[in-house]
Amino acid sequence: MPVISVSNLTKRFGEKIAVNDISFELGGQEFLVLVGPSGCGKTTTLRMLAGLEPVTSGEILFDGRKVNDIRPKDRNVAMVFQDYAVFPHLTVFENIAYGLRSRGVSSRIINERVPAAAKMFRIDHLLKRKPRQLSGGERQRVALARAMVRDADVYLFDEPLSNLDAQLRHQAREDILTLHREKKRPSVYVTHDQSEAMALGDRIAVMRAGRIEQLGTGSELYERPRNLFVAYFVGTPSINLFDATLQAQDGAIFAVTPAFTVRLPDETKEKLQHHVGRPVKLGIRPEDLHVPKQAPFAVSDDNTVKGVVNVIEPSSTGCSVYLSTMGASSRDFVATFRVRVPATYLGKEIPLAMNMRKVHLFDAETEQSLIS
Ligand SMILES: Nc1ncnc2c1ncn2[C@@H]1O[C@H](COP(=O)(O)OP(=O)(O)OP(=O)(O)O)[C@@H](O)[C@H]1O
Ligand SMILES: [Mg+2]
Repeated sequence: MPVISVSNLTKRFGEKIAVNDISFELGGQEFLVLVGPSGCGKTTTLRMLAGLEPVTSGEILFDGRKVNDIRPKDRNVAMVFQDYAVFPHLTVFENIAYGLRSRGVSSRIINERVPAAAKMFRIDHLLKRKPRQLSGGERQRVALARAMVRDADVYLFDEPLSNLDAQLRHQAREDILTLHREKKRPSVYVTHDQSEAMALGDRIAVMRAGRIEQLGTGSELYERPRNLFVAYFVGTPSINLFDATLQAQDGAIFAVTPAFTVRLPDETKEKLQHHVGRPVKLGIRPEDLHVPKQAPFAVSDDNTVKGVVNVIEPSSTGCSVYLSTMGASSRDFVATFRVRVPATYLGKEIPLAMNMRKVHLFDAETEQSLIS
C-alpha cells in the first residue's frame, strides 16, 4: 500500500484554481520532487499535505487513512517552510528543539539530537543566537535542522535550499538524502530548479498552472517527455526546437524545416503517418548533436543540420556551442560536447549530425508528443 495517496486534489482561492485535480501516490521510502515555475501550486500542494490549507475537493490518505480533516499536529508531518518560519524569540537551539519539546520528547534526547542536527547542517556554532543574528542561509539551515531532527511520518520541504550558495547547497542536498534514507519515510520536496529536481528525486512531478504535466523518474522525463512544456523544462541547456512540417516521400517520413530536412526513423512511421502535412516542433537535445566524424551512427544529408558558430562556452564537462542556421528564417540552437572546441571555429559554418533515435516530435498546436 502506498504511504501517501493523493487523488483528484483541488484547491480554489475564490476564482483562482491554485491546484487543479492532481493525483499521485508515494511509497514508504520515496523522495518525490514537485517542480515547476513560480505560482504553479507547489506550496499550496505541500500545505494541503501538512493540513495547513483545507482542501476544496479530493482526498489525501496517509497509510490508507483519510487525513483531510485531521489537524496538522495530528498528522505527524515535519515541514520546512519556504520562508523558514523560525521563531524570532527563540534561540537556534530552542528553534530546532521546538517540534521535539511540543511532542514531549525528554530533555536528555533533545540535548543529544539538537547539537547533532545542528552539526550536520553546520550551524552548531550558532546554537545560542537568535534568528535576527543569522544570515538568510543560516536561518534556512535552522529550519532544515528543525524538521530533520524529528521522527515524523512524512517530511515536506518547500524550496529549503534557495538561500544557500552553490557549495552549501550541494552539501545540504547530500545531508537531506542521507537523513531521508535513515528515516525511511516518504518525502515531498519542492523546487523550481529542474537540475535540483533531477539530482534529488526518485520521481519528479512537473507542475504547471495547478496541474501535474508529467510524473516519472528523471530519465523518463528527460528521454520521453509527454509534451513540449516538460521537454523544455527539463535539461540544461534546454532542448533545441525547430518548426517543421512532416512530409512523406519514398516510403519514409521527413521533417522539413526552412534550414534542413531530416529523415525520421522508420519505427516512428506508424505514429506519424496521420500527421503528414501538419506543422510540428522537432526537438533535439544539445548532446544529441555530434561532430560528423565522432557520431556513433551513419551520417548523411538526411540527418545533418548546418550552423554558424556564434559562442563557445566552456563547461566542467566540455563545452556548449551556440549556433544559428543560415538563411532568412535563421534559428538559434545549441550543441554540447565532451571536448573543448577551439575558438578558431567562431564565425564558421559547421555541419552537425543529429541522432535521429533521440529526436522528439510535438504537435505544434496541442504541444503533445507524437512519438513517446
Ligand atoms: N491564500 C491565497 N489566496 C489567494 N491566492 C493564493 C493564496 N495562496 C496562493 N495563491 C495563489 O495560488 C497560486 C499557487 O500558489 P503557490 O504558492 O502554491 O505557488 P508556488 O508554486 O509555490 O510558487 P513559488 O515558486 O513562487 O513559491 C498562485 O497563483 C498564488 O497567487
Ligand atoms: Mg512556493
